[in-house]
Amino acid sequence: MQPAAEATVAARTRHHLLSLAPGLLYVPGYFDRDEQAALLDQLRGILADAPLFQPVMPKTGTPFSVRMSNCGPLGWVSDRNGYRYQPMHPVTARPWPTMPALARRAWADLGDYPDPSDACLINYYDRDARMGLHQDRDEEGFAAPVVSLSLGDTCVFRYGSTERRGPTKSLKLSSGDAIVLGGAARLAFHGVDRILGGSSTLLAEGGRFNLTLRRVAGEVLEGLDPR
Ligand code: SIN
Ligand code: FE2
Repeated sequence: MQPAAEATVAARTRHHLLSLAPGLLYVPGYFDRDEQAALLDQLRGILADAPLFQPVMPKTGTPFSVRMSNCGPLGWVSDRNGYRYQPMHPVTARPWPTMPALARRAWADLGDYPDPSDACLINYYDRDARMGLHQDRDEEGFAAPVVSLSLGDTCVFRYGSTERRGPTKSLKLSSGDAIVLGGAARLAFHGVDRILGGSSTLLAEGGRFNLTLRRVAGEVLEGLDPR
């Protein structure tokens, strides 16, 4: 996110914003405990309808250590055929449930983008799960940011530049924290080194949920005839 955009976001939310790098915004405690519990409640309802599934790596079929689900019009899936967004759950074949109101509020507060998010990936990490460094680049355009929300156990989040072999730093993300990858950081490499098991009491089963809100549909080019 550019400095002007960060100022816009700062003006809209009462939260403390920390710029970790150009475009990379960290909002500790974006959700207070009551909001975390309410969002978790909404998430439980979503997962009752769209259960966590086990994604596998394209080609090799190696399982991810996280389990996933989605909400909103489009959901990100990974299977032997590749990575993609699709409108239905890969196991139940039902449409994804509606995005929770608190997640939509986070996008409106922090996203600094005129269109709503059309995809929300839900990752569940048990205490042994992790996620390797990667870029989020399966969307049609990169003008919209990625807004990432953490619930449950603290994780060690790693972020770097837009170069795979560039330098990286780590940061602990606690329950209620938000991260925004936008502007110059929209394609920054990021991942989760580990989960600090037992660091939060929010989830009865332990572990961590991460919600990443994205805009998959590309920008509407002005003057372009949509037909
Ligand atoms: C992701 O990049 O999809 C997840 C990041 C996180 O769990 O914080
Ligand atoms: Fe990601």
